[in-house]
Amino acid sequence: MSGYCEPVTSVSVIVPAKINLHLGVGAVRPDGYHRLATVYQAVDVHDEVRAEPATDDITVTIHGDEDVTSSVPTGPDNLAVKAAEMLRDVLGVDEGVSLHIRKNIPVAGGMAGGSADAAAALVACNTLWAGGLSRDELAEIAVDLGSDVPFLLFGGNAIGTGRGEKVSPVLAQGSYHWAIGTSKEGLSTPEVFKEFDRLNENLDLQPPAVPDELLAALRSGNPWALGLGLSNDLEDAALSLRPDLEETLTVGREAGALAAMLSGSGPTCLFLASDEAHLMDISVALASSEVCDDIISARGPVSGAHVV
Ligand code: C5P
Repeated sequence: MSGYCEPVTSVSVIVPAKINLHLGVGAVRPDGYHRLATVYQAVDVHDEVRAEPATDDITVTIHGDEDVTSSVPTGPDNLAVKAAEMLRDVLGVDEGVSLHIRKNIPVAGGMAGGSADAAAALVACNTLWAGGLSRDELAEIAVDLGSDVPFLLFGGNAIGTGRGEKVSPVLAQGSYHWAIGTSKEGLSTPEVFKEFDRLNENLDLQPPAVPDELLAALRSGNPWALGLGLSNDLEDAALSLRPDLEETLTVGREAGALAAMLSGSGPTCLFLASDEAHLMDISVALASSEVCDDIISARGPVSGAHVV
């Protein structure tokens, strides 16, 4: 056998969206970030990032529905571009890359779509440039790209502490079914945190913690127990900015969802179902009431960014 390897011409990576089963928010830190204690779950709403060799430049194109793609930056502000630049510096390579992102994760929806693309770009470019970095080493770079980026490299169910970037896996069983109601008009995460600060300005916020009941529910694999344990401290702030979302949550609750809440900083709404048939019932109720712009069916947990 010869030792010759074909040059890599293109690497495709798929990456999941995240939801927060628990999002505990504490006081703002001196660096401007809030203390978090969260439980992430990766769900099977995937973006795909394809990386092709290029001589010097790092460029990005966005593909998908026009209302989605038109709001994603294509310049140096794109998080996938920043990820490729940071990895290039760490590896000391002098090549460029053309990134092509196929978007399915809602933009500015509270499901970490931009962070997902950054995680995928790290994995894709590490393969394209034969960087040989481990997932833990990529996670060290990911911390500087965004609080959710490290989790999206690993996926599954995980606790996130610090500002959300310190992740450790959670012992869990079962697969959970989610109806996801999206909204074309996104919410800015910094704006929602600002509103959280305004609503809590006279309160002495306790350090956030992950509730034992939620971890026990995940260990049991019982969706009814999980439904009782879900919570999101950013929900009041997001609803204060987008009161119309109350109606979406009500429709899902009335359709029998085991729990209804906002995903992260919103405006995406999450409805936990007991199984596939129940998921379909909730989706039909949401669609017929026309309270959200689109409805996605998802299952979690799934694995993090990986080459396909
Ligand atoms: O970490 P990331 O860049 O994704 O965060 C986006 C914004 O969300 C931050 O600039 C900050 O305004 C807010 N944020 C926060 N506390 C966190 C995470 C995010 O205030 N723990």
